[in-house]
Amino acid sequence: MNILITGVAGFIGYHIAKKILKNNNKVIGIDNINDYYDVNLKKNRIKELKKNKKFFFYKVDIIQYKKLNSIIKNNQIKIIIHLAAQAGVRYSIKNPQTYFKSNLEGFFNILETSRYNKIKHLIYASTSSVYGDTKKFPLSETESTDRPLSFYAATKKSNEIMAHSYSYIYKLPCTGVRFFTVYGPFGRPDMALFKFTKNIIKNNPIELYNKGNHLRDFTYIDDIVDGIYSLINKQSKKTIPYEIFNIGNGTPKKLLDYLKYIEKNLNKKSKIKRLPLQVGDILKTHSNINKLKKYTGYNPKTNIDNGIKKFIEWFKDYYKVN
Ligand SMILES: NC(=O)c1ccc[n+]([C@@H]2O[C@H](COP(=O)([O-])OP(=O)(O)OC[C@H]3O[C@@H](n4cnc5c(N)ncnc54)[C@H](O)[C@@H]3O)[C@@H](O)[C@H]2O)c1
Repeated sequence: MNILITGVAGFIGYHIAKKILKNNNKVIGIDNINDYYDVNLKKNRIKELKKNKKFFFYKVDIIQYKKLNSIIKNNQIKIIIHLAAQAGVRYSIKNPQTYFKSNLEGFFNILETSRYNKIKHLIYASTSSVYGDTKKFPLSETESTDRPLSFYAATKKSNEIMAHSYSYIYKLPCTGVRFFTVYGPFGRPDMALFKFTKNIIKNNPIELYNKGNHLRDFTYIDDIVDGIYSLINKQSKKTIPYEIFNIGNGTPKKLLDYLKYIEKNLNKKSKIKRLPLQVGDILKTHSNINKLKKYTGYNPKTNIDNGIKKFIEWFKDYYKVN
């Protein structure tokens, strides 16, 4: 079955593509390779993926409906893993327009092309940010998500609602996956692990918000990939074929402890510049992963000590530092 991955040059897209290709399936990937962060990182991910002859890449923006639709039609796509989006909470305060374009208009195009091409399963990325300031930990899929604290979260929550209407009206099987702070090799330069590692190595100060007191359910990339992969052939068979799942680790850690693991693995202390909590930032995330565990047998395997170690090994190798 031909699978389309949108945002394939991105952190998660690259890793899920690798896993699907490893299992001998064809992957059609699209990405607009925008410059939100280092474009070389995206190009190098595509270069890696192209080593496999079953990978086909199109540089396309999901805003371009006609192009998107003809790729899906011509490649007889039946499964879509939709990851292309403007990610990041903080940047959505600065530049909400790009979130509106990619995450709302772009998502609408994904839904439209999915129904016209009779897609058998649309899996799309949502986020733990939809839980806003909900404090009923661990956060279950049944908790209220009506109070987003950032425009990023608002667009992702909108995706979940838009998908529901398509599942209901057109019987389009849709599965939303709420990722909890993903980290690992080939990760995003705008996220804490990447920024901290880079600055500690360069002897630059790191910016630590809220004294590092917020808690995150850091989830290693391989676990996220296993979670997505386990869902590919598990579209809902309900009258309204619609599901939402958390994909997290289930054990939140303080950002300050996360930093300590980075220092331990780099064998070097950080210089800290303290900053207040940022607008839109959430104090704590903690996923309840029981729903996915029951549904597919999902079982996250990597703790932060091992996960950070693997990231730092990748970082040193990629940037040729000792
Ligand atoms: N990484 C995390 O911790 C995390 C957490 C929750 C949710 N998510 C979601 O998971 C998905 C993947 O995240 P990621 O961390 O891999 O981010 P990423 O930024 O590395 O990947 C997203 C990719 O989508 C591409 N893209 C953006 N807008 C596009 C458009 N209009 N048309 C075509 N391509 C476009 C980008 O160029 C990028 O390569 C996103 O939807 C993100 O919101 C990520």
